[in-house]
Amino acid sequence: MKVTPQSAILPEAGPFSLVCVFNLVGNKEKVIRQCQGLLETVKKLNHQHVSAGIHLAIGFGKGFWQQFELGCPEDFEEFIPLGSGDVTAPATGGDILLHIHSNRHDLNFHLLSCFLQPISSEVELLDETHGFRYLDARDLTGFIDGTENPKMQEARRQVAIIPDGEFSGGSFVMVQRFVHQLPAWHAVNVDQQEKIIGRTKIDSVELDDVPENSHVGRVDLKENGKGLKIVRHSLPYGTVSGDHGLLFIAYCAEQRNFREMLNSMYGEKDGQTDKLLDFTQAVTGGYFFVPSEAMLKQL
Ligand code: HEM
Ligand code: MG
Repeated sequence: MKVTPQSAILPEAGPFSLVCVFNLVGNKEKVIRQCQGLLETVKKLNHQHVSAGIHLAIGFGKGFWQQFELGCPEDFEEFIPLGSGDVTAPATGGDILLHIHSNRHDLNFHLLSCFLQPISSEVELLDETHGFRYLDARDLTGFIDGTENPKMQEARRQVAIIPDGEFSGGSFVMVQRFVHQLPAWHAVNVDQQEKIIGRTKIDSVELDDVPENSHVGRVDLKENGKGLKIVRHSLPYGTVSGDHGLLFIAYCAEQRNFREMLNSMYGEKDGQTDKLLDFTQAVTGGYFFVPSEAMLKQL
């Protein structure tokens, strides 16, 4: 079997993204056919609009995936709620995930509306978030997001794509939508903000002494001298006067890398929590499996 990963995973995030999570409430076959048809629709749109650069990944939650007779990728778990008090991550799950990124906000919108229109009574939308690249790839906190992301195609493949076996070409995805409390963040001076992130604000240089409870201190994990890596595609979203924050989405060949990072952020590892989480709150949380293109076509 040719193991082409779905197209959204390896390229850098385009300037516009769309992440949509929904549950199945009606006819499963109809929805699966629509998902498969979306691959063709993307091809057609990219052909019609040569600079659109539309990339797509379709993933499935564990409960939903188990309904196929394909078996389950090893170590595929549901998202479980994490944390306590004011620092919590809810588990909102979902059966199906669509991740689109491209150069065109309008085509992302168009693609999703074409997809949903014929199956609107078969699915229940849990979240639809349109993201945009902000300034020079900054999060709304003003910090550059993605500095330590694997850059080269081959490095990204090694981190994100299951290399062999039954599920080769597949990838695990984690999604969390964060709502930022920017007034509280802006009340903190830049020196303190840098200690909360673990890098400098202007140019994203790692601090000499990365605080243990900074974001980088929590997620830059090593095992036997080797860094745990993921491929992040997160982008800011929202409106100035309403909710806004980061739509976190990342891919990995091993789901446990996400669990280790989340346990470390949410105090499940050593009781320490990520200081960044005092300024942002996750409102969704889910894990999905993105099969190779060939496997998606076989469902
Ligand atoms: C690094 C922002 C959530 C994993 C960073 C950096 C920033 C950032 C500014 C430093 C620059 C870089 O290397 O990209 C945020 C914000 C988040 C968030 C604003 C949510 C509101 C998460 C979550 C995870 C995560 C939920 C994983 C579960 C990572 C990793 C790095 C990183 C692995 C690179 C660490 C290193 O190797 O130095 N993030 N992040 N982030 N973040 Fe996040
Ligand atoms: Mg590092």
